[in-house]
Amino acid sequence: MMKTCKWLMAVGAIALSIPTMAHGNDGLEITYLSPDNTMVRITGEESTLLLPTQDNVEDATINVIVDNQLVKTIRCRLAQQKVDLTVPMDLTPYKGKKVVLSVVTPQGRSGIREARTDVCWRDMKLTNDFVWKNTEAKYRPAYHHAPQWGWMNDPNGMFYKDGKWHLAYQWNPYGAKWQNLSWGHSVSSDLVNWEHMPVAIEPDGLGMIFSGSAAIDTANTVGYGPGAVVALYTSADRNQIQSLAGSNDDGLTYQKYDGNPVLANDSEARDPNMFWNEKTGKWTILLAHALEHEMLIFSSPDLKEWTLESSFGKGLGEQGGVWECPDLFEVPVAGTNKTKWVLLCNINPGGPFGGSATQYFVGDFDGKTFKADTNAKGEVETKWMDYGKDHYATVSFSGTEADRRVVIGWMSNWEYANEVPTLQYRSANTLPREVGLFKGADGQLYVSSAPAREMLKLRGENVVSADKFSVSSTAAEYQIPESTEGLMEIVATIDAAKNSKVNFTLANSKGEKVDMTYDAATRTMNMDRTQAGLSDFSDRFPAVTVAPTRENKGKVEVRIFVDRTSVELFGNNGQFVMTNLVFPTEPYTQLSVSGTGKATVSGLKVYAIQTNK
Ligand code: FRU
Repeated sequence: MMKTCKWLMAVGAIALSIPTMAHGNDGLEITYLSPDNTMVRITGEESTLLLPTQDNVEDATINVIVDNQLVKTIRCRLAQQKVDLTVPMDLTPYKGKKVVLSVVTPQGRSGIREARTDVCWRDMKLTNDFVWKNTEAKYRPAYHHAPQWGWMNDPNGMFYKDGKWHLAYQWNPYGAKWQNLSWGHSVSSDLVNWEHMPVAIEPDGLGMIFSGSAAIDTANTVGYGPGAVVALYTSADRNQIQSLAGSNDDGLTYQKYDGNPVLANDSEARDPNMFWNEKTGKWTILLAHALEHEMLIFSSPDLKEWTLESSFGKGLGEQGGVWECPDLFEVPVAGTNKTKWVLLCNINPGGPFGGSATQYFVGDFDGKTFKADTNAKGEVETKWMDYGKDHYATVSFSGTEADRRVVIGWMSNWEYANEVPTLQYRSANTLPREVGLFKGADGQLYVSSAPAREMLKLRGENVVSADKFSVSSTAAEYQIPESTEGLMEIVATIDAAKNSKVNFTLANSKGEKVDMTYDAATRTMNMDRTQAGLSDFSDRFPAVTVAPTRENKGKVEVRIFVDRTSVELFGNNGQFVMTNLVFPTEPYTQLSVSGTGKATVSGLKVYAIQTNK
């Protein structure tokens, strides 16, 4: 609606015409100052401003000015031709104050007339009734954690307290691509159903809020009070520095330490991960020295003063890309009464199938130094936690029982995460997994990651069951009822003689399919998603991923979890795992099982997934 229209004309001899048009949607006064700068004065009293965004345009910079003070700056792809996603900006903290947005829009516009045709000005609105609705029905996961809207990457600051799992995550509340990194926050009492909470930590003068960790400070060593939740994260602006915050309401809100940063040592050091070390009576903190391909290990009495104890990793494991998101914890070794330490090291790129992936080291930690185990040749081998393409930034929950370690990974890959064909949100997390250690057929210790025991709760109606059968080149075909919407858990036991192969294919009526094959000759399992559905958004997406099964008997039990955009295959209780995204244009409703050589499949069952949603 046009409210006022001013023309400033002819200054001196120069005919200068500046069409400073002011107009407004109810409660907004929009003034176009120049082709790349528009001012929005908020005169309405409503609680929320709706910002229309478009996925494929450049960011605008929105300076939020309250009572003449700049309170925050966000980057937002304000819609130019069409609206892909409308995001809410909470105005309640500024109630009763004078709010002005100074919006710097992308350059290259011929003049104000062109800039003011952007649809964002028409659709920017105030409301008191923002209610989230799922507008991504086809590709929103039904039982994996995902943000309601906006971009998500790494899981952060995860802790378990008083029967609740708290999952923070790298979140952009103002768009579906990486930007404005804040800590989003979700809570669950069963690791399956997640309640979405308000943003937990927002960017500040020190920068965006990158990844980090949280723990319960039982003895009040940090000063937020006994039992407070304390968090370390990276403040990222031109450089990366480390900051501290504490929460007295279980991670709902955090108070940042006023002496931040607590550490400023290198431009590319990030993702602090800490735990209270009973043996040393101090905090142990790991920090990824990203470009140096090492993890720095610090000790601290209070998370404010850090002492560098050692560094781990130079020349070890996969050295490509950057090292990010460390974690270090003690794990019982299956079948023994011993424990070993596991150091997680996420790297990007350099993963086994391109892009990002999680490697780990098994070894010993004396409170100061981590020493990785070696193989028979005295070498430290590269070990991967998951042999799919979409498993990254994996870290664990603090606060669980000593013998229980639950991890979650970000279910995407930096090669294409910003391009996947969803618009309301981008990226989900993997199913929560329980970490163990087992001895592989080669005598070495490996990490297993099995679906967390709570995932059994997902099992709904048993829609397919088959008695033991021998596989052959003529596939056994099973129809999955459409009522499952393609959401299922497939369970089966393979018993394969040397040189045989067993194949599971999931398909839809359009011929889109995911092939999974166990090869007894090579003791591997592979997953082929080259024809799984949409893939034209990135030439790095089509892939065949391969996992060593680490057994030598040809006996493999599989559990395959299928959600709307993912397939996670767990073998032998997590002794090998493959996580891959898929974008079928309609759900998979056919399962066929075939093979060559002498092999049987027994206990084949398909369960529909039961969710609260
Ligand atoms: C890993 C990562 C972290 C960083 C965060 C920024 O995916 O690059 O190292 O803290 O993402 O969003």
